[in-house]
Amino acid sequence: MTDGGRTRRLLIRDIAQLVTPAGRDAPLRGRALGDLDIVEAAFVLCDGDRIVDVGRMRELKPLSDDVAELDARGQCAIPGLVDCHTHACFGGDRVEEFALRAAGASYEELHARGGGIMSTVRATRAAGEDELARIVRRHRGWMLAAGTTTFEAKSGYGLDRDTELASLRSIRAAGGIPTWLGAHAVPPEFSDGDAYLDFALQEVLPVVAELAEAADVFLEQGAFDVDQARRYLLAAREVGLTPRIHGDQFTEQGAVDLAVEVGARSIDHLEATGPGGIRRLAGSDAVGVLLPASALFLDRPMPPARALVDAGAAVALATDFNPGSSFCESLPVVCSLAATQLKLSPAEALAACTVNAAHVLARADRIGRLAPGYRADVVLLNAPDWRYLAYHLSGRIVAGAVIAGEPAELG
Ligand code: NIG
Ligand code: FE
Repeated sequence: MTDGGRTRRLLIRDIAQLVTPAGRDAPLRGRALGDLDIVEAAFVLCDGDRIVDVGRMRELKPLSDDVAELDARGQCAIPGLVDCHTHACFGGDRVEEFALRAAGASYEELHARGGGIMSTVRATRAAGEDELARIVRRHRGWMLAAGTTTFEAKSGYGLDRDTELASLRSIRAAGGIPTWLGAHAVPPEFSDGDAYLDFALQEVLPVVAELAEAADVFLEQGAFDVDQARRYLLAAREVGLTPRIHGDQFTEQGAVDLAVEVGARSIDHLEATGPGGIRRLAGSDAVGVLLPASALFLDRPMPPARALVDAGAAVALATDFNPGSSFCESLPVVCSLAATQLKLSPAEALAACTVNAAHVLARADRIGRLAPGYRADVVLLNAPDWRYLAYHLSGRIVAGAVIAGEPAELG
């Protein structure tokens, strides 16, 4: 980053449209969610890993000749996308199960038969740490090619001490933000959820506290109930981890109330959330993380996104990238689904996977906007209008990225 004692400077020039969520607040709610600043014929000036100036080309002051230049050649610039919910650390795949589902089997049936999450647990335990680290790096490359410059990833396919810790270390090593999903499923070595939690909270949590930023639980029939989820999240919160919940995916089990009670940062999924849950979530600080690729992949109802936004809830969008319920690493595809299925505007979708997702990861002061002081994470879109981000369904529109002031190889 430094060159002869001076930080490296980079000018991204001749941007057709530069687009960023307006203001500095986070999370954005209601009408503010769709409020963008759009600058035509723009530049971004980076100094080291930070943005120091943003403006119109015709207002650009002369720069010394040691400033590197990246010519956007009329492409559009948006903030680097932030994926606040992935399960990017897993061994094997679930292609066989995918084919069975296509033939009529349901996700819940496969899970109840010991397939589903448990089949990925077996493959992840067998992989070993070096292989897991390679897998997360490969997935990071896929995400970056789709414009994701910051990603969260959860453990939860180890469910034993060594594999959970190896997963969190692998995520960290690949530059991801690790969440301990220690309560994802009850592994077969334990008679029930309580016995498993005794082990996880005594044997795994003390070490996880040093490795992860958040703790997540799958609160659902066939996974963990509300009392178990409460016990797990309070223990995790006690050692400094941020509570998060996979809730209301298939059935309402009191996940929204628990999220409010424990001060969860987010409740993710919400496909089954009814009017009461919408109201309570809107009156809280918890962010509703919408995962429309998962609903599509499992052919489930979409979450009530429009009602949540209109009621004043803070929402984010994420991929839920995983081998079973959402084999999709692309936030642009998620933005397309947000527009076509969730009835969010392209502007709301952009804010939901930039500033609001950054808020879920407690980084909204540093990432998610193109403005002075923010980290220089920029994505260039090969499109005449930035809304192609949502409009071009699965199009190859991500033409380039800059991460922390350095042009990145998209692979
Ligand atoms: O967010 N719902 C629980 N967990 C993941 C899916 C995990 C899997 O099927 O492997 C999700 O959808
Ligand atoms: Fe998930």
